[in-house]
Amino acid sequence: MWYRGYVGRGAAPEILLNGLHRLEYRGYDSAGIAVLHGGNLQVCRAVGKVKNLEAKALGSDGLPRDAHTGIAHTRWATHGSPTEANAHPHCDDHAVFACVHNGIIENHQHLREQLRRKGHTFHSETDTEVIPHLIAEFYNGDFLAAAAAALRQLQGAFGVALLCRHHPDQIVAARKGSPIVLGVGNGESIVASDVAAVLGHTNNVIFLDDGDLALVTPGDVSIRNLDNVPITRDVSRIDWTLESVEKGGFDHFMLKEIHDQPESLRNALRGRLDADQGTAILSGMNMTPHDLVDIDRIVIAACGTSLHAGMVGEHLFEDLAGIVTEVEQAAEFRYRNPILSSRTLAIAISQSGETADTLAALREAKMKGSQVLAICNVVSSTIAREAGRGVYLHAGPEISVASTKAFTSQVVILLLMALKFARTRRMPRQTGVELVEELRRLPDQVARVLDRAPEIERIARKWAAARDFFYIGRGYLHPVALEGALKLKEISYIHAEGYHAAELKHGPIALLDEDVPVVTLANDIDGKDKMLSNIQECRARHAPVILTATEGDTDVAGFTEDVIRIPRTHQCLTPVTTTVALQLFAYYVARERGCPIDQPRNLAKSVTVE
Ligand code: F6R
Repeated sequence: MWYRGYVGRGAAPEILLNGLHRLEYRGYDSAGIAVLHGGNLQVCRAVGKVKNLEAKALGSDGLPRDAHTGIAHTRWATHGSPTEANAHPHCDDHAVFACVHNGIIENHQHLREQLRRKGHTFHSETDTEVIPHLIAEFYNGDFLAAAAAALRQLQGAFGVALLCRHHPDQIVAARKGSPIVLGVGNGESIVASDVAAVLGHTNNVIFLDDGDLALVTPGDVSIRNLDNVPITRDVSRIDWTLESVEKGGFDHFMLKEIHDQPESLRNALRGRLDADQGTAILSGMNMTPHDLVDIDRIVIAACGTSLHAGMVGEHLFEDLAGIVTEVEQAAEFRYRNPILSSRTLAIAISQSGETADTLAALREAKMKGSQVLAICNVVSSTIAREAGRGVYLHAGPEISVASTKAFTSQVVILLLMALKFARTRRMPRQTGVELVEELRRLPDQVARVLDRAPEIERIARKWAAARDFFYIGRGYLHPVALEGALKLKEISYIHAEGYHAAELKHGPIALLDEDVPVVTLANDIDGKDKMLSNIQECRARHAPVILTATEGDTDVAGFTEDVIRIPRTHQCLTPVTTTVALQLFAYYVARERGCPIDQPRNLAKSVTVE
């Protein structure tokens, strides 16, 4: 999750442990440290809190306190559960090399097999462990050259820091898709996965670019690319406080996490698209084509924001794959005596993987003999473990109480699942190929929505004093109306209700007047014409209208000046792009009202009671 390396004159174990403590609140499930001392490489790892690691590392059988070179890591499980064996640093068979890594090595299975055949033994379930083994395979005395040769073999994303026991004053660091910052101090250097881990030692930093390989020694750094061509990178002076760096320079974790979404979506999609066959690769589902065809009904259970993602899933499975699907509030599921069979697939969706009602629904589905799958963010969480199979979001920890990036990744995973079912059952290859192409473009389209933040902020500030809001949508955007309203109420404390646009006439319209803004999701998707009529109905009651509309769509012109433009996509992706705009809207309203955005009153990040 994050890591740091130190090479200098100081006591590496203590310096590295202090660094781990300082960033503890970010969330992690295990931690580890490796140091070089007297020609040996010594590693210490522990599950749980940094204090567990500290007790081991500084205990009588611990690490030599006067080691001057080391690397440390806190892990948030992605491949394999949070165990000591899976914690970083990882080593090769002869403990010559140690590695800490962020990112995902997509071809790790293939490399692992190759290395096994050459006699290497693996001790973890991680993708990372192939890296030190691969370096050992290439090593003939030149650490940097062996590292470069090994890293050239890796597909996927990595930021790594490496030690070699034959080179006691060196750390090798390399980056492809996962950030690395080097801190160059007086007689000491730091390698870190982000700036926060460098501050406190030095304010002089070098940001590596993709493809860079750095040899880091006390107070000095030399950079080249993986083909050994020397590169010069500027040293920047950073004057940020630790707190602002933590939030990536954003004022709140929620805003940071909203802005994380192009990256979290890339991680959700990484290695899961088959562009040639127009389908999804989701090995965690563990279902054969026969299993996929055999399912005759899908039931989705979840709570809150995850429930809204499930509602999008209902559309996706029915629309794309033609499978009868129901989505259930998880708390209701168990008490309603649901009708399930062995041909029913029950999907539990939960960011935390610990929500009590969702867990109870999963257990009920299992007990009734249906097939189960989980969509979770937290690896090895209770729901993920008990389901036994499923798909992880890989969205990274969500610290803000209001869920943002988990929702968009959940929708994308549901879409990938629906695509897999659809291609096995009735969707022609070409349609699948086109959808895969749309999915590939999605992270950039989300980035374009984020570029509109200043305009969304203007609209939010204009309406931030309202006491009530309505959100209305149809089809794929009906769940988004519910999610938009939920985001607004939980962080701004404004009463907000999400409705299907057609329901407006069946009651809520009685509440509309000039003080009740209606956020109308009028993107150019099925049902847009009816949405245009709904806008007229709101205007006729003098309700102010805020619109989301597709870029370039002129049909919505003239209704209101408060229009948030959303890039054109396949309609099944509009829940992702449009929700991002509504997250920003809720955020700016709450900020204007001075609310404690990351920790709203009465709310907990994980609801573990029924
Ligand atoms: C809203 C929010 C909650 C959660 C709900 C389920 O922003 O965060 O509504 O979505 O408590 O949590 P998970 O997904 O962890 O099961």
